[in-house]
Amino acid sequence: MDNFQFYSPTYFEFGRGAEDKVGELLKRFGASKVLIHYGGGSVQKSGLLDKVRANLEKADIPFFELGGVKPNPRSGLVYEGIDICKKEGIDFILAVGGGSVIDSSKAIAAGACSDEDFINFYRGKAKFDKALPVGTILTIAASGSEGSGNSVINDEEIGKKKGIRGDVLRPKFSILNPEWTMTLPAYQTAAGCTDIMAHVCERYFSNTEGVEVTDRLCEALLKTILKEAPIVIENPKDYDARANIMWAGMLAHNNVCGVGRVQDWASHHIEHELSALYDVTHGAGLAVIMPAWMRYVVNINPGKLVDFARNVMEVEEAEDDMATAMRGIEKFEAFLKSIGMPLTFDEIGAKEEDIDYLTEKLLGKNKTEGNYVKLEAEDVKKIYHFAANR
Ligand code: NZQ
Ligand code: ZN
Repeated sequence: MDNFQFYSPTYFEFGRGAEDKVGELLKRFGASKVLIHYGGGSVQKSGLLDKVRANLEKADIPFFELGGVKPNPRSGLVYEGIDICKKEGIDFILAVGGGSVIDSSKAIAAGACSDEDFINFYRGKAKFDKALPVGTILTIAASGSEGSGNSVINDEEIGKKKGIRGDVLRPKFSILNPEWTMTLPAYQTAAGCTDIMAHVCERYFSNTEGVEVTDRLCEALLKTILKEAPIVIENPKDYDARANIMWAGMLAHNNVCGVGRVQDWASHHIEHELSALYDVTHGAGLAVIMPAWMRYVVNINPGKLVDFARNVMEVEEAEDDMATAMRGIEKFEAFLKSIGMPLTFDEIGAKEEDIDYLTEKLLGKNKTEGNYVKLEAEDVKKIYHFAANR
């Protein structure tokens, strides 16, 4: 096990009625003027936004609003948010929605504390060490942004998704009431579950030895999603299944499963090029890329894929380890399909003729991507081609 630091200071308020605490939590964490940031309409439709407004009014907390965050959040709206914060003296951002809303809030939070163009933080051209405090009310279990120090933004000028990470971006509090996820369409639910599994897999597929505790934690989370995802697809109002998925989504990405080991992240980075170019739902893009990645790397480094097949997918032993690993991948693909996820380029509108462009954009000046197997440009292309031609 490698040395590590672990810092995860977010306060979680979990369960039915948790959103009623929002005013109290904002006060506890020092908010005096709030920007409520939200997406394209789901929180109006569900009634959550009205509840939040009423709660802040009751708590006597002045607030401004900025809606309209799109999935794969755009840099343009972030500039608007930064302007509002600077002009109005906002000192706390409340994200009400999913990962896109939370990530957009984190970008505004960092940009509002600096004279630097915020996008330079994402382009790696400037560093940030301050951000306004952010709180979240989560409506989709997926990104894990409610407990992470990460933010991913679509840089509209260059058409590429870029991420930043910093402990100052970790939410001060996150309100998780599984009931607000019950309005999610099946496709978004399934995409969220796929993303959660991917966050675990990016950590599980590691060559670091002696990480028994995180290996077993990873397997527990993966098996939770395998069990609960079909239940909520069948019955979207199953509270306990929604609750387990919601908490798994947080645990999958606050890095409790990733400490002390080298992590991979190739599938995520390969996918981010798809969601930037075709505006694909992130989790759906991962359903296309992850199995393709598995099928490619299993021939080079099968070890952890054998564990995945045995301990997570619980396949029957085949004649040798490689065949057992393949059974695991096939069973994983069948699971993704069963919850309505795509597995091919065609299904997400991606085009084979773009593969060279996607690969160039992905690697840029870097020679390799990922760590479990270090992928060069030709390897990445093969993974994309596999997804295009399966
Ligand atoms: O915009 P609204 O109307 O709210 O609709 C959203 C959106 O269309 C809808 N939705 C959310 N909650 C709902 C709901 N619809 C009905 N009922 C509800 N309760 O779902 C759609 C997707 O929302 P989005 O926020 O985009 O989903 P998600 O949480 O999956 O976030 C995806 C973004 O997170 C990034 C992804 O790249 C992508 O941009 N990620 C962020 C990470 C992080 N910050 O740590 C890590 C992840 O790997 C990921 O890259
Ligand atoms: Zn993800």
